[in-house]
Amino acid sequence: MKQKITSIINNLVSRKSTDEFIAQSNKTELKKTLNIMDLLILGISAVVGTGIFTIIGSAIVGSSEGLGAGTAVVVSMLIAALASLFSALAYSEMAAMIPVAGSAYTFTYATMGEFMAWMVGWILMLEYAIGNITVATAWTGYLTQLLKGFKHILPSFIVNCPLWLRNDFRSIYALCDKYGLDVHDKMPFIHLPFGFEIPVAINIPAIFIVLLLTILLIKGVKESTRIAGLMVFVNLSIIISFVIVGAKYIAPANWVPFAPNGFEGILAGTFIIFFAYIGFDAISTAAEETKNPQRDLPVAIIGTLLLCTLLYISVALVLTGIIPMSSIDTSAPLAHAMRLIGKNWYAGAISVGALCALTSVLLVYQLGTTRIIYAIARDNFLPKNIMKIHNKFKTPHIITWLSGLIVICGSLFMDLNISAELCNYGTFASFVIICIEVLILRKTEPDRIRPFKVPFCPLFPILGIILCSCFMIYKGLSGGDSSIYFLLWIIIGLAIYVFYGYKNKRKTN
Ligand code: ALA
Repeated sequence: MKQKITSIINNLVSRKSTDEFIAQSNKTELKKTLNIMDLLILGISAVVGTGIFTIIGSAIVGSSEGLGAGTAVVVSMLIAALASLFSALAYSEMAAMIPVAGSAYTFTYATMGEFMAWMVGWILMLEYAIGNITVATAWTGYLTQLLKGFKHILPSFIVNCPLWLRNDFRSIYALCDKYGLDVHDKMPFIHLPFGFEIPVAINIPAIFIVLLLTILLIKGVKESTRIAGLMVFVNLSIIISFVIVGAKYIAPANWVPFAPNGFEGILAGTFIIFFAYIGFDAISTAAEETKNPQRDLPVAIIGTLLLCTLLYISVALVLTGIIPMSSIDTSAPLAHAMRLIGKNWYAGAISVGALCALTSVLLVYQLGTTRIIYAIARDNFLPKNIMKIHNKFKTPHIITWLSGLIVICGSLFMDLNISAELCNYGTFASFVIICIEVLILRKTEPDRIRPFKVPFCPLFPILGIILCSCFMIYKGLSGGDSSIYFLLWIIIGLAIYVFYGYKNKRKTN
């Protein structure tokens, strides 16, 4: 019995060695072509999206999941940027040292062993797949705003598409709650159809965009990433022009009170607006293809962070300055604000920029989901046959469909704030683990060549661990459905490993 327990424990902590990973990566011989500019574009395309175009609304006014920060969302943004900075530096050290696909999952396998690697891979699914539910839902919000601009051209059924055809099940319930209605009453206000006495709500635009991108990704990765690069230019121009056009309409009285819900509102705002900063791992995963990682990685990471923070703060000041807090919309706040100050044409332009930004984030994240599932299946935690490559397109089509279907199912049942918060939980958790791994490897493999080193180690990784853990604990204590779902996610991950992954790994080894 004792022997059996020892053998199980040994298996749980068995590591795939760093050298094994590096040997694996050497086989790919990727060209070192990326410079600071390329890395900045990569970072911005993964980072700028739903956070600044949509979630900023809930971070300011609050949602069913937490209080709003008001104009003090700018403080929330600074705190979120700091938490991201420490973790992004840790990511860079790991990625430059172990430049292999699979992101935090791979690093964990090299430092903490099999069990933690599986759990991190499972948690990363929150960041990528569940994060994409948020982005897909936000996409619907901006499409709806864009269509409003065509009210004299398109049929009214399309311009004012029924609520049940552009919302998830949960949002419809929340809407009924807001107006004091019982969802089971067949009320004329929402015109909900019922099937088997259950109200029907299907977010058609979200399903449509995910299906489209899934097909695009199956057809070929190269073409898809090229489109993402183009979209960065459009969305940055739109954000900058929102700030310039809106600045003229600022009424400082709208900024008062600065923090209507005090420090609690600022913390809740930080937890949700953190979503706007997610995506930095995209920069660090390109370490292997960077010409001069020691210099370029930190400059690109800090540069992207500074640029995004500057843009985000400017947008927040303009948004809270041009209309009163009570008028800020939570599904398409920037376009809605422009519409309220009479800039209808411009609201349409913002919606186009937002749709571009959200599409590029969706693309990067769906690609991320497939890469992580691929890495996990390659290590035998999941059935190997899902890794099948498409005969004609040479892409992992089963995994790509799988990741698309997860997002589609999620967008039927989860609202934007819940999925964003769940994604944030997953990202905070993976950030904590990455910072811990930097500390472990500095001790266990001090002589290994590190093309990039976190400055002020161990202080910076420790600050990263403290900051990110504090946010998870704070959110856990303040309640909300996302905390319960996060716990459930962890339990399901554990169950899959215990009842399937552990055995499957041994069987095929
Ligand atoms: N940071 C990305 C976004 O805001 C996830 O959409």
